[in-house]
This record gives sequence, structure tokens and C-alpha cells, in this order.
Amino acid sequence: MMRHVLFGCALCAALVACGEVEDTRSGRPVWHRQEAFKAILRAFEPMGVQLRAEGYEPESFLRYARELERIKDEPWSFFGADTQYPPSHSLDRLWQEREGFDTLEQDFLRATVALKTAAEGRDEGAVRAAWAAVEKTCRDCHKGYRR
Ligand code: HEC
Repeated sequence: MMRHVLFGCALCAALVACGEVEDTRSGRPVWHRQEAFKAILRAFEPMGVQLRAEGYEPESFLRYARELERIKDEPWSFFGADTQYPPSHSLDRLWQEREGFDTLEQDFLRATVALKTAAEGRDEGAVRAAWAAVEKTCRDCHKGYRR
């Protein structure tokens, strides 16, 4: 039984590693935007863990909220023309309906600033609402523009 579980995981990891090609193009825009989103997740997710499970810790929450606000602008300049190629997980629609994407980007930027402001106020109710508002922008944009 144990062997099956281990084999399953190893196979899975190998498939993931093989499935992704490396971004070797000049400036590596796909790589840069994916790294920027990973950093956004690293700041955003621990706040969610606090609110869902571990309990709200105002000081550490504020550090994450400040970090998220600091790095909020990083992915967007890497969505230039002609940057839709593997390993991108973006949908073609992003470039075809750019206005919709840009609107969600602006919603995200505003929501992250509002989250930092709420975190500075240290009011848990306000913090929860502000965190949920940011999460909605992640979700809405991924639904429309990411696969
Ligand atoms: C305005 C649109 C938009 C918003 C807002 C947005 N994302 Fe994304 N995100 C994308 C797109 C598009 C991709 C796919 C990038 C690619 O591969 O080309 C992506 C990819 C990612 C990835 C995968 C990176 C990788 O390793 O490939 C993570 C993680 C991620 N986003 C987290 C978040 C989180 C967390 C938020 C909110 C706090 C968020 N995103 C907000 C559009 C958005």
C-alpha cells in the first residue's frame, strides 16, 4: 500500500516537471509574471490561513498586507503583446478582450491598497471583508483569463 502511494506521488511530480517547458525567450516575460504571481500568493495566502484557521494576528497580518501592497504592480507589465506561448497558462482571450482584464487588474490594485489600510486599522471585521474583496479579484480574473 505504502509503495503505491509513494510511486503515485513520484509519478505525479515527474509529469508536472515534464509538462512545463522553460521560458527561454528574451526577457522571459512569462517566467517573470508567473514568479510575480507566486510572490503574490506567498504574501496573500498566509493571511487567509490566519482568518480561516489560525486566528487573526494583527501584527503579522499587517506585514503580509504591506508586502502584498508593495509587490502588487509586478506581474502586469509582463503581459505585453506576443507573450502568449508555453509555459503560459493565460487564455488568448486576455489579449483579445484586454479591457476586461485591465479592469480586473485595477480592481485588484485598489483592493490590495484597501487591505493594507484595513490591516493598519487592526479591526478584524474590516480586515476580513478587505481580504475577501482581494480574493474575489484573484478568483474573477483567473476564471476569465487563466486556465
Ligand atoms: C487581473 C487578473 C489577475 C488577478 C487580479 C490575479 N491573477 Fe493570478 N494569474 C492571472 C493570470 C492571467 C495568470 C497566468 C499567467 C501565465 O501563466 O501566463 C495567473 C497566474 C497565477 C498563479 C500561477 C503562477 C505560476 O506558477 O504559473 C498564481 C499562484 C496566482 N496567479 C495567484 C494569484 C493570487 C493569489 C491573486 C490575488 C491575490 C491573483 N493571482 C490575482 C491573472 C490574475
